[in-house]
Amino acid sequence: MMKKDVLKLIKERRSVRKFKKKKITMGSVRKILEAGRWAPSGLNNQPWKFMVLQKELKDRLSRYTHYSQVITSADKVILVFLDKKNIYNYEKDLLSIGACIQNMLIFLHSINYGACWLGEILNQRDKINKMLGIKRHLQLEAVIALGEPVAYKRKGERESLKKLILNPP
Ligand SMILES: Cc1cc2nc3c(=O)[nH]c(=O)nc-3n(C[C@H](O)[C@H](O)[C@H](O)COP(=O)(O)O)c2cc1C
Repeated sequence: MMKKDVLKLIKERRSVRKFKKKKITMGSVRKILEAGRWAPSGLNNQPWKFMVLQKELKDRLSRYTHYSQVITSADKVILVFLDKKNIYNYEKDLLSIGACIQNMLIFLHSINYGACWLGEILNQRDKINKMLGIKRHLQLEAVIALGEPVAYKRKGERESLKKLILNPP
């Protein structure tokens, strides 16, 4: 793929909060996780762990966020954890988790799926670990709701580059 196409994918990706009733195969989910697994990480520490939920358990998770409808509408969700037993530098490990999530978002968009990165749900991370029987050293960092997007135009807005570059030429 040419560089231009990657930039196009990056720019056209939008958060999707409403999905069709169609299933995503576990084969596709594995490919999405594969994109995450190949993200860069400080010292190649790879501090992430994943959990995929669907059906009843996914819907139980939806109780822990104001964005419950995004989760119930999605076919599956990917939970992304920071493995605190595998930390070399908290800040850099967290940044690496962000890179991992973005890799997945771009890749799944490239195969015509849609997703929403959910962060508000982290307010309930302790209760979520308890509900799922997950040990405390696995710290929830994001829930990615995914599915086939319901088609409508999603507007993207960003600050201009001019505003962002501290030393404009
Ligand atoms: C760290 C983080 C947390 C987010 N949390 C939520 C959330 O809890 N609920 C939600 O609907 N969207 C959430 N989003 C999605 C953002 O609202 C969205 O990325 C932003 O508005 C830009 O829109 P776009 O993704 O369509 O370009 C989150 C995104 C990030 C990166």
